[in-house]
Amino acid sequence: MTETAIRFEGAGKTYPGGTAAVEALDLEIPRGSLTVFVGPSGCGKTTSLRMINRMVEPTSGRVVVDGRDVSSVPAHELRRSMGYVMQQSGLMPHRTVVDNVATVPRLTGVPKRRARERARELLATVGLDVQLAERYPAQLSGGQQQRVGVARALAADPPVLLMDEPFSAVDPVVRQDLQRELLDLQQRLHRTIVFVTHDIDEAVLLGNRVAVFATGGRLAQYASPEELLRAPADDFVADFVGRDRGFRSLTFDSARDIPVHPVAVVRPDGSPGVIGPGGDVPGGWSLRVDDDGAPRGWVRTGAEDDPVVGGTLHRPGGSLRSALDAALSSPSGLAVVVDEAGRAVGVMDPAEIVAAVEDARLGGRAHR
Ligand SMILES: Nc1ncnc2c1ncn2[C@@H]1O[C@H](COP(=O)(O)OP(=O)(O)O)[C@@H](O)[C@H]1O
Ligand SMILES: [Mg+2]
Repeated sequence: MTETAIRFEGAGKTYPGGTAAVEALDLEIPRGSLTVFVGPSGCGKTTSLRMINRMVEPTSGRVVVDGRDVSSVPAHELRRSMGYVMQQSGLMPHRTVVDNVATVPRLTGVPKRRARERARELLATVGLDVQLAERYPAQLSGGQQQRVGVARALAADPPVLLMDEPFSAVDPVVRQDLQRELLDLQQRLHRTIVFVTHDIDEAVLLGNRVAVFATGGRLAQYASPEELLRAPADDFVADFVGRDRGFRSLTFDSARDIPVHPVAVVRPDGSPGVIGPGGDVPGGWSLRVDDDGAPRGWVRTGAEDDPVVGGTLHRPGGSLRSALDAALSSPSGLAVVVDEAGRAVGVMDPAEIVAAVEDARLGGRAHR
């Protein structure tokens, strides 16, 4: 049984002036989970998030954290137990990076030296080069500043982390790094994280559970990412989840039961060979490999001087989506399978991949 850390009980917010930002919201957030609030702009995500730490007071219903109605907990005490990260890192410009982070433990009475030590540990934890610790915020890139923001939010060692579009302002490549690191961090720290985004892909990637907010502050669906893609609750969610959701849902199916077949290869010196398990070797194409056995594209039998660029590679533990993509992007139609070290270990037959896709669709889903 999962324990509830945060519970919205008919919590609604109408701002002075009459904007109904959040309709009576009922939602349970399990302890140690990463829960995402997603939806288009203006649908009440930030308002809902801020009801958790009393930056916004609900006008109806209540929010309960660890069994206590938050309105009965002094705001400063509540906020000390919750890290908060925003889109703009909100760092103090006249303090160095390390002092920005050390400020938080200093507030709770940790001696300066110890606080700075702790700050350095945290900067390392969020993947920031320690060399940057003595710089000022303006001397860092946007992505680096967001890392500092996360380190600072973790500085009080809070059980709850509230994150409001923390990665929305950084470029896509850096955003991917930050997302991966947040997942790593969460695997180690198991905090209760509530993460707001307007990006459905980010929501599906990060969330254990995803709450989809619709216009007018209505909760349209609260489900696992997998359920969201497979069974959107209504037209709004289906539309918001977007195109290719059938294909994208294959991310949640394993390809582990699809057989791997041998493949003809050509080595850098031009010598032919075979890689993979025993069995028939599909004809017509050979996989070019380098000296380490890593794939370098394809050649057609009889046209060895005319190499063709390869497709995506299917890695160990990869999903059905990855296997299907490897086949569809492969000039030979065969999905190239590689090991952890990136060496080719064989190929998958597109017909067998499609059969597995059909199996998954019919409900015989092989979960990760
Ligand atoms: N302080 C405020 N005063 C009045 N209206 C607000 C205030 N903050 C937000 N709103 C309104 O409430 C609605 C929800 O806003 P918000 O929670 O910020 O949405 P989101 O984070 O999903 O973009 C919007 O219509 C917004 O204009
Ligand atoms: Mg917002």
